[in-house]
Amino acid sequence: MANILIFDSGMGGLSVYREVHRALPAHQYFYLFDNACFPYGELGEARLVERVLELLTVFVARHHIDIVIIACNTASTYVLPALREQLHIPVVGVVPAIKPAAEYCRSKGLKHIGLLATPGTVSRRYTAELVQRFAADMQISMLGTTELVRMAEDKLAGETVNISHLVRILTPWRGGDKPDALVLGCTHFPLLANELSQCLPKVHLIDSGEAIARRVSSLLLQPFTAKRITEQTQQLSGRVYCTELTAKAKAQSLAFAKEGFTLISEFCV
Ligand code: DGL
Repeated sequence: MANILIFDSGMGGLSVYREVHRALPAHQYFYLFDNACFPYGELGEARLVERVLELLTVFVARHHIDIVIIACNTASTYVLPALREQLHIPVVGVVPAIKPAAEYCRSKGLKHIGLLATPGTVSRRYTAELVQRFAADMQISMLGTTELVRMAEDKLAGETVNISHLVRILTPWRGGDKPDALVLGCTHFPLLANELSQCLPKVHLIDSGEAIARRVSSLLLQPFTAKRITEQTQQLSGRVYCTELTAKAKAQSLAFAKEGFTLISEFCV
């Protein structure tokens, strides 16, 4: 049994956790979200890497984590090399599913891929390289939005999604220039999949959740030593940590409870 940490700036990582937990229910899960620095999509790159390294180095050591899943495209598209150098355990990063989207479009004779992500992710060099490498023959249009990230957070805190607001955000893709496939390049966005489909009917939505579950499964088959599970980590299994215990984080913890997580606590470095 391994100790698996899901990390995100907010609740988006739940969309990844669902897939990983479905494939690997017998492991111990920890969820850490950095609400004190949310939204990551608007954080400068130097601050982002410094913050993620600082948090994860301490958390991984304190909780004997065996595998880290960076369930955040905004962070993965920038911090993975530095993080892997520092942590010495497997680090799985969620990045925009451009390759599967291009394969899907090619198989159907389609051309237009939309990338819906954060402002940080759409401006990354990593994202441009992904497109160049896997989808150079496609028409790509990108939309970077923090508003949608906030809408997903609010939905999980119990608020109703305002569809006309969502329609406004998606204006560039409504009408004639609708993508054939839409990459949900932020882990918050699968949490709004129904609403997105309502606003963009017949657009094929693609996220990275299942691919991450496959990757983690294959890592667990490789010979690696899961750290000894101490009494303390047993007790804390399925526990969720935020970096600032606000009233909103407490409200959000109800959504975590629905997924089998227990108490929410504050994690400080
Ligand atoms: N969930 C994160 C992602 O996948 C980002 C949200 C944020 O901007 O903090 O990109």
